[in-house]
Amino acid sequence: MLKKLTLSAVAAVAVTTGTAFAAGEGGHIHDVDYSFEGPFGAYDEHQLQRGLQVYTEICSACHGLKFVPLRTLADDGGPALPEDQVRAYATQFEVFDPELDDFRPAKKTDHFPGSALENAPDLSLMAKARAGFHGPYGTGLAQLFKGIGGPEYIHAILTGYTGETKEQAGTTFYENTAFPGGWIAMAPPLAGDDVEFADGSATDLDAISTDVSAFLMWTAEPKMMARKQAGLTGVLFLVVLSVLLYLTNKRIWAPLKKKNAGAP
Ligand code: HEC
Repeated sequence: MLKKLTLSAVAAVAVTTGTAFAAGEGGHIHDVDYSFEGPFGAYDEHQLQRGLQVYTEICSACHGLKFVPLRTLADDGGPALPEDQVRAYATQFEVFDPELDDFRPAKKTDHFPGSALENAPDLSLMAKARAGFHGPYGTGLAQLFKGIGGPEYIHAILTGYTGETKEQAGTTFYENTAFPGGWIAMAPPLAGDDVEFADGSATDLDAISTDVSAFLMWTAEPKMMARKQAGLTGVLFLVVLSVLLYLTNKRIWAPLKKKNAGAP
């Protein structure tokens, strides 16, 4: 029985790691090596800053991040922008202030604006709302090995355009190998070289898609670093506790063990 179980587990692992399995109707999604993966992974603040730039210059024309407070851009474990930069960054957005009954430039204490285009979804939580990996056959094993795949899904959407378009009920749809159903209403937002980074980082399509999807993972899970740290502290604590318990146990039973040692 055990042998059988082991065999099927090994077979399942072989299947999952061999090919990137996609959901029945979903598209094909590649694994991407992000810096924040694994128990010791951490966000790369420079990558988050580049992703923020891509989001600001391109995606924010249509999409919003209404659940993300602007002040969190200064957070450690996030993009970690200096306070004065955050303040300056905020002023480029306009928010409606009910007290003034008018629009005013955003402040650090406001959130990012919502979507400017009605049918463009808010991206705050998109990296957690979508799963890139499934299966095989509904077991979720691929997720066990590669993670849920939210940022990979966003990366795959941005790089998955085939160039085909079709017109349906007055809307143009673009063929996309990652989007469930294969046709998305978002025109390819990135072509490569859409932005220029101050640090001279690569701006090809793959690189900027990775940067912006990493940034969107941060917006969806801004406390990931704190969570991992708490987890590690917990594990360490339990290890120390186990050692102490083991030694205590030995000590408690030591007199009895000694007495029985000579007995036949
Ligand atoms: C011109 C407007 C526009 C721009 C610019 C734009 N998008 Fe979109 N986006 C849309 C629309 C419209 C949809 C809804 C598409 C649909 O549901 O078919 C969408 C959908 C999405 C989705 C959701 C796919 C899903 O599973 O529902 C993601 C992720 C996304 N966009 C990411 C981005 C990123 C990242 C950028 C910047 C690099 C960007 N978009 C730039 C209009 C835009």
